[in-house]
Amino acid sequence: MRTPLIAGNWKMNGLSADAMALADAVVERAAGLDGIETVMCPPFVHLPMVGDRLKEGVRLGAQNCADAEQGARTGEIAADMLADLGVSYVILGHSERRQFYGEDDAAIAARYAQALKARLRPILCVGETLEERDAGRTQAVVAEQINGVVDRLESAAGLGGGVIAYEPVWAIGTGRTATAEQAQGVHAFIREILAERQPALADEMRLLYGGSMKPANAADLLAQPDVDGGLIGGASLDAEDFVAICAAA
Ligand code: G3P
Repeated sequence: MRTPLIAGNWKMNGLSADAMALADAVVERAAGLDGIETVMCPPFVHLPMVGDRLKEGVRLGAQNCADAEQGARTGEIAADMLADLGVSYVILGHSERRQFYGEDDAAIAARYAQALKARLRPILCVGETLEERDAGRTQAVVAEQINGVVDRLESAAGLGGGVIAYEPVWAIGTGRTATAEQAQGVHAFIREILAERQPALADEMRLLYGGSMKPANAADLLAQPDVDGGLIGGASLDAEDFVAICAAA
Protein backbone atom coordinates (compact mmCIF):
# COMPACT_ATOMS: atom_id res chain seq x y z
CA MET A 1 0.00 0.00 0.00
CA ARG A 2 1.56 3.33 -1.04
CA THR A 3 0.81 6.22 1.36
CA PRO A 4 -0.66 9.08 -0.69
CA LEU A 5 1.59 12.14 -0.90
CA ILE A 6 0.43 15.67 -1.69
CA ALA A 7 3.25 18.20 -2.06
CA GLY A 8 2.72 21.92 -2.57
CA ASN A 9 5.29 23.61 -4.79
CA TRP A 10 5.04 27.29 -3.87
CA LYS A 11 7.54 28.14 -6.62
CA MET A 12 8.94 31.70 -6.42
CA ASN A 13 6.02 33.22 -4.55
CA GLY A 14 5.46 35.12 -1.29
CA LEU A 15 7.32 37.43 1.05
CA SER A 16 7.88 36.33 4.65
CA ALA A 17 4.50 37.52 5.96
CA ASP A 18 2.73 35.62 3.15
CA ALA A 19 4.76 32.49 3.85
CA MET A 20 3.98 32.56 7.56
CA ALA A 21 0.28 33.13 6.94
CA LEU A 22 0.06 30.35 4.34
CA ALA A 23 1.98 27.89 6.51
CA ASP A 24 -0.23 28.61 9.53
CA ALA A 25 -3.42 28.34 7.46
CA VAL A 26 -2.39 24.98 5.94
CA VAL A 27 -1.27 23.55 9.30
CA GLU A 28 -4.57 24.58 10.88
CA ARG A 29 -6.70 23.05 8.11
CA ALA A 30 -4.59 19.91 7.69
CA ALA A 31 -4.82 18.97 11.36
CA GLY A 32 -7.70 16.57 10.77
CA LEU A 33 -6.10 14.73 7.85
CA ASP A 34 -4.65 11.26 8.34
CA GLY A 35 -3.40 8.41 6.19
CA ILE A 36 -1.62 10.79 3.80
CA GLU A 37 1.66 12.69 3.71
CA THR A 38 1.39 16.44 3.24
CA VAL A 39 4.46 18.47 2.22
CA MET A 40 4.97 22.21 1.75
CA CYS A 41 7.85 23.36 -0.47
CA PRO A 42 8.39 27.12 0.06
CA PRO A 43 11.17 29.17 -1.54
CA PHE A 44 14.55 28.50 0.11
CA VAL A 45 14.54 31.79 2.04
CA HIS A 46 11.36 30.80 3.90
CA LEU A 47 12.44 27.27 4.87
CA PRO A 48 13.57 28.06 8.46
CA MET A 49 10.48 30.09 9.27
CA VAL A 50 7.98 27.73 7.63
CA GLY A 51 9.78 24.79 9.21
CA ASP A 52 9.31 26.36 12.63
CA ARG A 53 5.55 26.64 12.08
CA LEU A 54 4.88 23.10 10.89
CA LYS A 55 3.14 20.78 13.29
CA GLU A 56 3.04 16.99 13.28
CA GLY A 57 1.81 15.66 9.98
CA VAL A 58 2.96 18.43 7.63
CA ARG A 59 6.46 17.96 6.28
CA LEU A 60 8.92 20.47 4.81
CA GLY A 61 10.21 20.23 1.24
CA ALA A 62 12.68 22.19 -0.87
CA GLN A 63 12.49 23.14 -4.53
CA ASN A 64 16.01 22.00 -5.47
CA CYS A 65 19.42 21.14 -4.00
CA ALA A 66 23.02 21.49 -5.14
CA ASP A 67 24.76 18.95 -7.38
CA ALA A 68 27.77 18.88 -5.05
CA GLU A 69 28.65 18.81 -1.37
CA GLN A 70 29.34 22.00 0.59
CA GLY A 71 32.15 24.07 -0.94
CA ALA A 72 32.88 26.41 -3.83
CA ARG A 73 29.43 26.50 -5.41
CA THR A 74 28.33 30.15 -5.19
CA GLY A 75 24.56 30.54 -5.07
CA GLU A 76 23.82 26.89 -4.45
CA ILE A 77 22.40 25.19 -1.34
CA ALA A 78 23.86 21.85 -0.27
CA ALA A 79 21.47 18.98 0.44
CA ASP A 80 22.79 18.52 3.99
CA MET A 81 22.03 22.20 4.71
CA LEU A 82 18.41 21.46 3.77
CA ALA A 83 18.34 18.32 5.90
CA ASP A 84 19.75 20.40 8.76
CA LEU A 85 16.63 22.62 8.51
CA GLY A 86 14.33 19.62 8.79
CA VAL A 87 13.62 19.30 5.05
CA SER A 88 12.37 15.78 4.12
CA TYR A 89 11.65 16.06 0.38
CA VAL A 90 13.32 17.91 -2.48
CA ILE A 91 11.81 18.63 -5.91
CA LEU A 92 14.35 17.89 -8.67
CA GLY A 93 14.27 18.28 -12.45
CA HIS A 94 11.21 20.51 -12.48
CA SER A 95 10.39 21.58 -16.04
CA GLU A 96 11.06 25.20 -15.05
CA ARG A 97 14.61 24.23 -13.99
CA ARG A 98 15.08 22.43 -17.30
CA GLN A 99 13.53 25.24 -19.37
CA PHE A 100 14.91 28.40 -17.73
CA TYR A 101 18.15 27.18 -16.14
CA GLY A 102 19.25 24.48 -18.56
CA GLU A 103 19.31 21.65 -16.04
CA ASP A 104 19.82 18.45 -18.04
CA ASP A 105 19.66 14.80 -17.00
CA ALA A 106 23.31 14.80 -15.85
CA ALA A 107 22.78 17.84 -13.60
CA ILE A 108 19.55 16.41 -12.24
CA ALA A 109 21.17 13.04 -11.56
CA ALA A 110 23.99 14.73 -9.62
CA ARG A 111 21.46 16.65 -7.54
CA TYR A 112 19.47 13.44 -7.02
CA ALA A 113 22.58 11.64 -5.72
CA GLN A 114 23.33 14.51 -3.33
CA ALA A 115 19.76 14.44 -2.03
CA LEU A 116 19.94 10.71 -1.30
CA LYS A 117 23.34 11.17 0.40
CA ALA A 118 21.76 13.73 2.74
CA ARG A 119 18.85 11.31 3.33
CA LEU A 120 16.34 13.55 1.61
CA ARG A 121 13.56 12.04 -0.52
CA PRO A 122 13.87 13.35 -4.10
CA ILE A 123 10.72 14.11 -6.11
CA LEU A 124 11.97 13.62 -9.69
CA CYS A 125 9.85 15.59 -12.19
CA VAL A 126 9.35 14.27 -15.70
CA GLY A 127 6.93 15.23 -18.46
CA GLU A 128 6.52 16.13 -22.09
CA THR A 129 5.76 19.42 -23.89
CA LEU A 130 2.64 19.83 -25.99
CA GLU A 131 4.75 19.52 -29.15
CA GLU A 132 6.21 16.24 -27.89
CA ARG A 133 2.75 14.91 -27.01
CA ASP A 134 1.33 15.94 -30.37
CA ALA A 135 4.26 14.17 -32.03
CA GLY A 136 3.42 10.98 -30.12
CA ARG A 137 6.65 11.18 -28.09
CA THR A 138 5.21 11.25 -24.54
CA GLN A 139 6.46 7.78 -23.56
CA ALA A 140 9.85 8.31 -25.23
CA VAL A 141 10.43 11.61 -23.41
CA VAL A 142 9.35 10.26 -20.02
CA ALA A 143 11.53 7.16 -20.48
CA GLU A 144 14.53 9.30 -21.52
CA GLN A 145 14.15 11.54 -18.45
CA ILE A 146 13.86 8.65 -15.99
CA ASN A 147 16.63 6.56 -17.58
CA GLY A 148 18.78 9.71 -17.88
CA VAL A 149 18.90 9.77 -14.08
CA VAL A 150 18.89 6.03 -13.35
CA ASP A 151 21.81 5.46 -15.76
CA ARG A 152 23.92 8.01 -13.84
CA LEU A 153 23.22 6.92 -10.28
CA GLU A 154 26.25 4.95 -9.17
CA SER A 155 24.75 3.72 -5.91
CA ALA A 156 23.18 0.29 -6.06
CA ALA A 157 20.16 1.82 -4.34
CA GLY A 158 19.36 3.60 -7.63
CA LEU A 159 16.36 5.87 -7.20
CA GLY A 160 16.24 4.83 -3.52
CA GLY A 161 13.41 6.27 -1.45
CA GLY A 162 12.53 8.81 -4.12
CA VAL A 163 9.23 9.71 -5.75
CA ILE A 164 8.49 10.45 -9.43
CA ALA A 165 6.15 13.28 -10.45
CA TYR A 166 4.65 13.16 -13.92
CA GLU A 167 4.09 16.80 -14.87
CA PRO A 168 3.02 17.26 -18.48
CA VAL A 169 4.50 20.66 -19.29
CA TRP A 170 1.38 21.64 -21.24
CA ALA A 171 -0.70 21.24 -18.05
CA ILE A 172 1.53 23.28 -15.72
CA GLY A 173 -0.06 26.59 -14.80
CA THR A 174 -2.39 26.43 -17.80
CA GLY A 175 -5.62 25.19 -16.25
CA ARG A 176 -5.53 22.46 -18.91
CA THR A 177 -5.28 19.35 -16.75
CA ALA A 178 -4.52 15.91 -18.10
CA THR A 179 -7.56 13.67 -17.97
CA ALA A 180 -7.55 10.92 -15.35
CA GLU A 181 -7.10 8.40 -18.19
CA GLN A 182 -4.15 10.30 -19.68
CA ALA A 183 -2.48 10.54 -16.27
CA GLN A 184 -3.09 6.86 -15.48
CA GLY A 185 -1.74 5.85 -18.87
CA VAL A 186 1.58 7.60 -18.34
CA HIS A 187 1.82 6.53 -14.70
CA ALA A 188 1.29 2.90 -15.69
CA PHE A 189 4.05 3.31 -18.28
CA ILE A 190 6.38 4.78 -15.64
CA ARG A 191 5.60 1.76 -13.42
CA GLU A 192 6.63 -0.48 -16.34
CA ILE A 193 9.94 1.40 -16.69
CA LEU A 194 10.57 0.98 -12.96
CA ALA A 195 9.73 -2.74 -13.14
CA GLU A 196 12.49 -3.06 -15.75
CA ARG A 197 15.10 -0.67 -14.34
CA GLN A 198 14.40 -0.70 -10.60
CA PRO A 199 12.42 -3.91 -9.95
CA ALA A 200 12.92 -3.77 -6.17
CA LEU A 201 11.32 -0.31 -6.05
CA ALA A 202 8.70 -0.57 -8.78
CA ASP A 203 5.73 -1.40 -6.60
CA GLU A 204 6.55 0.84 -3.65
CA MET A 205 7.65 3.99 -5.50
CA ARG A 206 4.97 6.66 -5.38
CA LEU A 207 4.02 8.37 -8.64
CA LEU A 208 2.56 11.87 -8.31
CA TYR A 209 0.63 13.80 -10.93
CA GLY A 210 1.32 17.52 -11.34
CA GLY A 211 -0.22 20.02 -13.74
CA SER A 212 -3.30 22.08 -12.82
CA MET A 213 -4.54 19.67 -10.17
CA LYS A 214 -7.35 21.54 -8.37
CA PRO A 215 -10.03 20.62 -5.81
CA ALA A 216 -12.51 20.08 -8.66
CA ASN A 217 -10.43 17.45 -10.49
CA ALA A 218 -8.30 15.97 -7.68
CA ALA A 219 -10.60 13.10 -6.71
CA ASP A 220 -10.77 11.75 -10.28
CA LEU A 221 -7.01 11.90 -10.73
CA LEU A 222 -6.22 10.49 -7.29
CA ALA A 223 -8.65 7.60 -7.80
CA GLN A 224 -6.40 6.19 -10.52
CA PRO A 225 -4.50 3.03 -9.45
CA ASP A 226 -1.05 4.41 -10.30
CA VAL A 227 -1.63 8.01 -9.19
CA ASP A 228 -0.32 8.06 -5.61
CA GLY A 229 -0.62 11.78 -5.01
CA GLY A 230 -0.06 15.20 -6.50
CA LEU A 231 2.56 17.89 -6.94
CA ILE A 232 0.54 21.09 -6.69
CA GLY A 233 1.57 24.52 -7.92
CA GLY A 234 -0.98 27.32 -8.05
CA ALA A 235 -3.52 25.63 -5.79
CA SER A 236 -0.87 25.21 -3.05
CA LEU A 237 -0.84 28.98 -2.57
CA ASP A 238 -4.42 28.84 -1.29
CA ALA A 239 -4.64 26.92 1.99
CA GLU A 240 -8.25 25.96 1.48
CA ASP A 241 -7.68 24.62 -2.04
CA PHE A 242 -4.49 22.81 -1.06
CA VAL A 243 -6.05 21.05 1.91
CA ALA A 244 -9.15 20.22 -0.16
CA ILE A 245 -6.82 18.39 -2.57
CA CYS A 246 -5.14 16.62 0.36
CA ALA A 247 -8.56 15.57 1.65
CA ALA A 248 -9.38 14.05 -1.75
CA ALA A 249 -6.32 11.75 -1.56
O1 G3P B 1 5.41 21.43 -9.46
C1 G3P B 1 4.02 21.55 -9.59
C2 G3P B 1 3.66 22.52 -10.64
O2 G3P B 1 4.52 22.50 -11.72
C3 G3P B 1 2.21 22.38 -11.10
O3 G3P B 1 1.74 23.68 -11.23
O4 G3P B 1 0.08 25.47 -11.06
O5 G3P B 1 -0.23 23.59 -12.72
O6 G3P B 1 -0.51 23.15 -10.27
P1 G3P B 1 0.17 23.99 -11.32
